[in-house]
Amino acid sequence: MHNYRTSITQFIIEEQRHIEGATGEFTSLLNDIVTACKVISNLVNHGELVGVLGSTESENVQGETQKKLDIISNDVFIKSNEWAGHVAAMASEEMDDIYPIPEAYPRGKYLLTFDPLDGSSNIDVNVSVGTIFSILRCPDGIDNPTKEDFLQPGTKQVCAGYALYGPSSIMVLTTGNGVNGFTLDQNIGEFVLTHPKMQIPEDTVEFAINASNMRFWEAPIKRYVDECLAGKTGSRGRDFNMRWIASMVAEVHRILTRGGVFMYPLDEKNREKGGRLRLMYEANPMSMIIEQAGGASSTGRERIMEVEPSDLHQRIPVILGSKNEVERIVQYHQES
Ligand code: F6P
Repeated sequence: MHNYRTSITQFIIEEQRHIEGATGEFTSLLNDIVTACKVISNLVNHGELVGVLGSTESENVQGETQKKLDIISNDVFIKSNEWAGHVAAMASEEMDDIYPIPEAYPRGKYLLTFDPLDGSSNIDVNVSVGTIFSILRCPDGIDNPTKEDFLQPGTKQVCAGYALYGPSSIMVLTTGNGVNGFTLDQNIGEFVLTHPKMQIPEDTVEFAINASNMRFWEAPIKRYVDECLAGKTGSRGRDFNMRWIASMVAEVHRILTRGGVFMYPLDEKNREKGGRLRLMYEANPMSMIIEQAGGASSTGRERIMEVEPSDLHQRIPVILGSKNEVERIVQYHQES
């Protein structure tokens, strides 16, 4: 018998059959997102061959220099998702304001937020990057959503996912019913189910943090990392390993695959901004995926998904991954 694998489309349609009152709109929306990620994957794979590497003159709303691929990927996401009538408005890390669906197209019942190319400082050096997205419901009775309509806590997400453009391209998805991973089969142009029901081990001996910020850290983070570094000779009684890819998608994917803890905490350097990573485009979707896979996600002080957003581009401290380690770090915050 031929080794048949479930395509992502089949998977989504079969999942939707179990949802009462589902109209197929959500399935179609996800299909458009998948298409966008395939296009971005193709561009990332071809890199300099198609002239997409390097920076532009412009900065995004966060004050970061935009890479050519940041802008191209943003465009791809917009174009793939604006026409079909499933989305009422979009918001992207790369755009100052929300993107209302043009008058020429019908509007749908969902709001889409995304980071089209996360970790893009890695793109020129040929290290993994990814796309992160989150789907919210447009509040009832709202035809022309504004920025405020997007400001919903992470617990309200209908779906969250990412595509990782690494040695292979993988899409990982949750609709609140576990986490599943799909690898892009280049030969047939489809993502197919390769990582069903992903689960994060509760314990780990691997942590990820940008250690160049060590002098800015707060006491609980210092304490946690010091204990990890002390290894077998310290209070933890075992050796730890450290990784830092500087690509959150790759980092989260590693944790989903073999466990670990990822930290971009509040520190003296980012305190004024509220943290380093963005709540709507990075922290919330990744938190939903991590929690759905049995992990935990916190700012150190509260569960990320329960934070009431106050701004579209809000930043937030992020500590996520293997449950027992995240809980330990939260406890260190409480104790300090
Ligand atoms: O903007 C997000 C991001 O690129 C993440 O993907 C990554 O985790 C982080 O920034 C890297 O930060 P740093 O530049 O401090 O290593």
